[in-house]
Amino acid sequence: MRTILQILVSPRTQSISRRVALEVTDRILARHLGARVTVRDLARDPPPHPSSELYEAILTGAAHDDPRLELSERLIAELEAADCVVIGTPMNNFTVPSTLKAWIDHVVRIRRSFRSSPQGKVGLLHDRPVVVVTAHGGYCGDLPLMQPDFLTPYLRTIFSTIGIHDLRFLRLEGLTRGAEGVATALDGARSWMDKNLPEQ
Ligand SMILES: Cc1cc2nc3c(=O)[nH]c(=O)nc-3n(C[C@H](O)[C@H](O)[C@H](O)COP(=O)(O)O)c2cc1C
Repeated sequence: MRTILQILVSPRTQSISRRVALEVTDRILARHLGARVTVRDLARDPPPHPSSELYEAILTGAAHDDPRLELSERLIAELEAADCVVIGTPMNNFTVPSTLKAWIDHVVRIRRSFRSSPQGKVGLLHDRPVVVVTAHGGYCGDLPLMQPDFLTPYLRTIFSTIGIHDLRFLRLEGLTRGAEGVATALDGARSWMDKNLPEQ
């Protein structure tokens, strides 16, 4: 493994998704000495919502070097260059925060990261492990008092659309339930990391 792309989403200095995503990256680095980390901090440098220029460039099939696609090309190139991706993100209102959604809108681009076929969309990027650390104030699940999770299936579908199927979710729940909730989530995270981080 030579390059790790780290995508950080929370704007909070005390962010737990950031803290655990950094720990995941450190653990991967410890196994792959000399690997390089590219940091894409979506809170400090949020991608803009798609503009009318971006829509036109995509809808008219503009060349990849069209200046309207410059940011999209840069973000896709960062992803293509990564052997492994580590994302740290909160759940916001049952799904991804809008900054991560904006990143997706620049990266998931027809004729570039996927193509259309009569059988459906075909991913154009090669597969690689993506570790997604998600931070939740509450708990997700099927019981009536629990909340729905649109984040996990959404990210699985979106990455698989562009050809990336190896998604590994580390879910940190109950983070607004006091210090005990945080400690339990962190304990669970460490045993998850012992078993689920990419080896190669
Ligand atoms: C706008 C907003 C929406 C949120 N929506 C949810 C939610 O749908 N489900 C949930 O469990 N927590 C929700 N939370 C709580 C955060 O996910 C939780 O505090 C998380 O720890 C924040 O991530 P961080 O610690 O990495 O900053 C929300 C928080 C904010 C500010």
